[in-house]
Amino acid sequence: MKYFWMSFVWLVISCQQNDRQIIQLQKQVDSLKTVIARSYKPGFGDLMNTVNHHFQELYRAGQTKNWRYATFEIHEMQEVLKKIITYQAQRKETTRLKMIFPSLQNMTRILKNPNQSDFDKAYNHIQNTCNACHKLTGYDFIKITTPR
Ligand code: HEC
Repeated sequence: MKYFWMSFVWLVISCQQNDRQIIQLQKQVDSLKTVIARSYKPGFGDLMNTVNHHFQELYRAGQTKNWRYATFEIHEMQEVLKKIITYQAQRKETTRLKMIFPSLQNMTRILKNPNQSDFDKAYNHIQNTCNACHKLTGYDFIKITTPR
């Protein structure tokens, strides 16, 4: 009987400790939630502007036949587009984004053995796809044009 009571007391104490631990963990979860809610998340438009920057640079690279720079810019565009998929997963437009990747892969292929006319065609193909998606998602007023 003595052992029974000892075990009982031990059980009560350890349950109380568990409760305290749970409260402590809950506090940590709550404070992490606040950190996440306040952390910076790039907007769809912010990321699109960055894609646009790399796309304009891609054009300049092509016109000066700086093919290594062009390859770098295509890579940068793909990185930023992947960020849209990660950070803007909740936007329904994001499901359409994959339509751009084949045209970028085509450009990467051309840049392995580049010439001006293939570059220009591949560039226009990408640009048409940007505009096709803007149209499809109701942003037809955002028209990407060739830099002058
Ligand atoms: C999902 C299909 C999609 C594709 C593909 C796409 N865009 Fe966009 N783009 C959008 C949407 C949606 C917006 C509006 C975002 C917002 O809510 O701010 C946008 C906005 C923009 C903006 C305006 C950003 C601002 O806030 O000022 C630019 C510039 C732009 N896109 C450039 C491009 C370029 C360049 C390409 C091709 C390399 C491209 N986009 C491909 C969907 C797309």
